[in-house]
Amino acid sequence: MAILDIDLDVLRQRTSMKWTRFGPDVLPLWVAEMDVLPSPGVTRAMQHVLEIGDLGYPGYESLPRAFASFAADTWGLTLEAAKLMPCADVVSGMAVLVDAFTPAGAGIVINTPIYPPFRVSGAVGERHLVEAVLTPEGRLDLDALEAAFARDDVAGYLLCNPHNPHGTVHTPEELESVARLAHRHDVVVISDEIHGALVAPEATFTSYLSVPGSENGFVVTSASKAFNLAALKAGLLIAGSERVAALWKLPYEVRAGSSHLGLLLQAAGLDNDRDWLAQLNREIAANKVLLASLLPGVGLTYTPSQGTYLAWVDASPLGLEHPATTLRSRGRVAFNPGTDYAGDAGQWVRINLATSPTIICEAVARIGAVRR
Ligand SMILES: Cc1ncc(COP(=O)(O)O)c(C=O)c1O
Repeated sequence: MAILDIDLDVLRQRTSMKWTRFGPDVLPLWVAEMDVLPSPGVTRAMQHVLEIGDLGYPGYESLPRAFASFAADTWGLTLEAAKLMPCADVVSGMAVLVDAFTPAGAGIVINTPIYPPFRVSGAVGERHLVEAVLTPEGRLDLDALEAAFARDDVAGYLLCNPHNPHGTVHTPEELESVARLAHRHDVVVISDEIHGALVAPEATFTSYLSVPGSENGFVVTSASKAFNLAALKAGLLIAGSERVAALWKLPYEVRAGSSHLGLLLQAAGLDNDRDWLAQLNREIAANKVLLASLLPGVGLTYTPSQGTYLAWVDASPLGLEHPATTLRSRGRVAFNPGTDYAGDAGQWVRINLATSPTIICEAVARIGAVRR
């Protein structure tokens, strides 16, 4: 049975952000929640928690242990236990690291278009952003990065690996170049790898911390995206080998922000549901092919990306002044507006493909209805 095949009637009963932000007749393909039921190991772990009343304060070791084992088996990445520290979630974890490891007033480099909290939230606190725009293909522009790193004010870089919204999976060569440039210009790299386990079957994800020269960088990650567990707060800070001592000087509250259930259930998924995850990645890849085949029918194009379950689509052929807004108001289909990702991306929309093929077909039909 397909994982991405939940009835709309069931989905409409959900009370999460995706299903309640807009009216009941709007088809929501926006915020990065998946239309899946919990994976089998996660379900079993949840049932066991309830059977034995395991609802106390966090036992912190479950997720670090499970993640290190997953990273070793899946990516050949060795992570000693001391490198991993739980945190509340990825966005607040990035903010903690920026705050601890870059001076107030510093410039923080980001690659636009990018997931909105990199640009607008507290992630960079009292710092200012320096944009190194991606190439038109959605890849890192190493010349732009070098120019940004060379600025006197720049002290940090928030890398998104794989990149949201494009779904670009950065190559080992690109990441090595990042490490070299960061070292040359004394920039701390903080790599958000929350989508790392969500890559196409033929693609290989490379963690920033696996490339030479990354020893003074950090990863922030979580299994909440792969197993759709955003409701249960938990994430991980992972220190490069030169940062381990500094990691453990962070306040205890950083760890205490994670929830016992979040840590436990993410660990259950990573330990028990790797086949489920592989099937999910196959279904996401198929949904990308489906979208690429359907969009030309409404005048749009899309090339499947290797990472994430998100599609970044140029809606300018529709000839709408504000595509995302108009598609929602007239077409009753919700995508994320491009302006959330870059100031000049108003003609783009981000489409969440972690849903059933039926819903994707209906969403594209709704685009077509607006176009006519
Ligand atoms: C790149 C990226 N980072 C972070 C997050 C959010 O993570 P968290 O809920 O752990 O803060 C998302 C959610 O979509 C994301 O796409």
